[in-house]
Amino acid sequence: MAVRKIVLEGDELLRSRCGEIARFDKELWNLLDEMAETLYGTGNGVGLAAPQVGECRRAVVIDVGEGLMELCNPVILSKRGKQTGSEGCLSCPGEYGIVTRPRKVRVRAQDRHGAFYIVKGEDLLARALCHEIDHLDGHLFKDIAERMLDPDEEE
Ligand code: NI
Repeated sequence: MAVRKIVLEGDELLRSRCGEIARFDKELWNLLDEMAETLYGTGNGVGLAAPQVGECRRAVVIDVGEGLMELCNPVILSKRGKQTGSEGCLSCPGEYGIVTRPRKVRVRAQDRHGAFYIVKGEDLLARALCHEIDHLDGHLFKDIAERMLDPDEEE
């Protein structure tokens, strides 16, 4: 396993639509392991999408403090409510913006063996799920931020 270099804004990879994962094999497991190691290596991230480590594939890891979640081919099934708050991205270091997201989401994904499961996320988890799934379609939080924060407003 290795910590991967995080791809920064400006790289075309972050603007690409990532391909579905079809093979749930050791190579995928290695990618997921390295994504988790890279996420934890940042010390402050709550999620990471595969294109952020240079792989245009539909894989996401998230840990909002409740343990590691691995999502392959995640799809948002439903959204409810709204939350507005500050958001950042490991690919846009030092930048934060105000983003409105659903307060609750229901997501279908596959685990590392290909088994389908459902995740229900509220609050921070809902925000993280939306943010990371956006990455898989080439979208960054800055695209939908109502405004970016000035450095002295940052949390
Ligand atoms: Ni991000």
